[in-house]
Amino acid sequence: MTRPRKLFVTTALPYANGKFHIGHIMEYIQADIWVRFQRMQGHEVNFVCADDAHGAPIMIAAEKAGLTPQQFVAGIAAGRPQYLNGFHIAFDNWHSTDAPENHALAQQIYRDLKANGLIASKTIAQFFDPEKGMFLPDRYVLGQCPKCHTPDQYGDNCEACGAVYAPTDLIAPRSALSGATPVLKNAEHFFFRLSDPRCVAFLESWTQDGRLQPEVANKVKEWFSVRTNPDGSTSEGLGDWDISRDAPYFGIEIPDAPGKYFYVWLDAPVGYLAALKNLLDKRSAQAQGESISFADYMAQPALEQYHFIGKDIVTFHTLFWPAMLHFSGRKVPDKIFVHGFLTVKEEKMSKSRGTGLDPLKYLALGMNPEWLRYYLATKLSGKNEDIDFNPSDFMARVNSDLVGKYINIASRAAGFLSKRFAGQLTHVKPEGGAALMHVLHAAALPLAQCYEDREYGKAMREIMVLADRVNAYVDANKPWELAKNPLHEQQLHQVCSLLINAFAVLTRYLAPVLPQLAQAVQGFTGQRMTHWQDRQDVQSIAPYEHLMQRVDEAQLLALFEPAAEAAKAAQTPDAIENSASQLPGGEAIAPTISIDDFAKIDLRIAKIVNCEAVEGSTKLLRLTLDVGESDAHGRLLTRNVFSGIASAYTPEDLIGQLTVMVANLAPRKMKFGLSEGMVLAASHADDKAQPGIYILKPWPGAQPGMRIH
Ligand code: MSP
Ligand code: ZN
Repeated sequence: MTRPRKLFVTTALPYANGKFHIGHIMEYIQADIWVRFQRMQGHEVNFVCADDAHGAPIMIAAEKAGLTPQQFVAGIAAGRPQYLNGFHIAFDNWHSTDAPENHALAQQIYRDLKANGLIASKTIAQFFDPEKGMFLPDRYVLGQCPKCHTPDQYGDNCEACGAVYAPTDLIAPRSALSGATPVLKNAEHFFFRLSDPRCVAFLESWTQDGRLQPEVANKVKEWFSVRTNPDGSTSEGLGDWDISRDAPYFGIEIPDAPGKYFYVWLDAPVGYLAALKNLLDKRSAQAQGESISFADYMAQPALEQYHFIGKDIVTFHTLFWPAMLHFSGRKVPDKIFVHGFLTVKEEKMSKSRGTGLDPLKYLALGMNPEWLRYYLATKLSGKNEDIDFNPSDFMARVNSDLVGKYINIASRAAGFLSKRFAGQLTHVKPEGGAALMHVLHAAALPLAQCYEDREYGKAMREIMVLADRVNAYVDANKPWELAKNPLHEQQLHQVCSLLINAFAVLTRYLAPVLPQLAQAVQGFTGQRMTHWQDRQDVQSIAPYEHLMQRVDEAQLLALFEPAAEAAKAAQTPDAIENSASQLPGGEAIAPTISIDDFAKIDLRIAKIVNCEAVEGSTKLLRLTLDVGESDAHGRLLTRNVFSGIASAYTPEDLIGQLTVMVANLAPRKMKFGLSEGMVLAASHADDKAQPGIYILKPWPGAQPGMRIH
């Protein structure tokens, strides 16, 4: 046997600004299948991932949630295991790009690049939000498209006409964070000099030497001749890459540059290495088996490094990342495995929203995670092409193929063996049995090649062809007929024994896709399912227990049934674009209530007699409200209310104003004190796409304490 390969495998590091959607799960399943296959070959794999914690969007989301970015990211990280465990995705480590290893590694790589003469600095003018006191990423500048004049377009491109431009080209630009008119401000930025002839020469060769998928290599090739600038114009060749951002920014500080941080995409891929280092360090600390330092591990000449990623982040992984590694004297990736996007019922998935297929709902409905793994496997290839989740196709593939063709082999044979032969199998092969087993075994090599090439769809099809052959053998030998005639007792034993052996072989071929099922079959047959090359005959079986149910149509209906909250959850820029007309303010009108229901809510005119900032919260304001209440001595009683409106109002804006409050809401104990009611404010359901919160103000004449009917 050849020496075990040493493989370092990652998936892309998901942004820590939201939950996983089914597209993420698809990427992890694709990689997990590959890793499990490699392990079955006896290879040594370290398979890691991490949360991509840094960047402006996460910083802003944290602020909105009233949390520090670290707390915010920790909350996201805490939600990861239920998805990963739920779908049998077995990373060896899950880390964070905000971890100390990543700070150290990113800074070291930067120092090495700088020492190599590949960091330049340049002063550039950029939009700055004078109210927020921060530079605005393109996505946080809104305005009218300079070409087609559609309002409310982002600073990088127009969703109406597709024009690409710089934020400074927008007509009447405003900050999406504060609404303020941004001003141009100069700042020094650091650039990775990708245009340096050394980088160009290296990348031209690295991207075209056969390590990338042909369709990816071709796309990348174009970037060496021409590129599109932010203003839509084009230039020759690779441009330098802006890798710095100014404070405030949630990221890693740039060495010797106070107030400057690495742009999130500089330290994100470094997180691959940080996650690996953290894993190896943990292993060394626990002195678990053989331990090896990160430096020694990476220095192994035979080490292979692979990244599974989606088609949207190819530039980062085929230009910036290999150049960063190469010119800082480090090992470069051996291959980048690019997959297409998953759609659900042909519907595109937005980064923030996902689709109708909620992975946790899938699990909560008791749907088998291995159905999804199998179905995705049937769809996946080694190419960068999009795939679709189609519910009826899903049901057909699982029920007719996986259960109907494969699982049934075991269920047809096991009963007779248990009842008639005490679960003992015979090694004697019935007629045609040896030939059948030969066919099954002969598939080991071509199937291994399919897995190696990520041609899972082809592998699944070939495995089902094998299952068809086994089923044809069943139909030709009819064990249920044999069972009727005592003279055929031996033949029945032989046929059923053969079927269980055939089933064990097929199970081994499916094991990378169906790890839990393979484990159950291991218990049932006493044969390990973890080694691709194993060919021992099964000696005996345990009583058969159902290995896999069929998909029930009711489950699929429930999976795609819009939840009461679904309309609300779906409010993202692209959802709004599609359905703004049906969904006023970005959310469906709530279910009808009776007048009695309404009467339960006591709304009152309130006067804001005082208002102050809340220490420790960027989100809340503390309001002191007069709703016309007084004590027995006629002294004014006020209410203390916390309201998440600090992004929109200052205390000075509000003191002395009238507004509307819910006066009979149960008091709520908050971190900062008791909140005795709620003031009413309007906002769009998707405060990212349509930021802004507006408190209500009665017409002149209303007095504190008046009820709203
Ligand atoms: N944080 C960056 C990656 C940094 S890697 C050093 C990022 N995060 S992401 O959460 O937006 O995407 C994570 C991965 O999910 C990417 O590989 C992306 O291509 C993939 N997918 C996002 N939507 C997808 C589908 N609809 N289908 C399949 N994969 C999808 O990008
Ligand atoms: Zn336009």
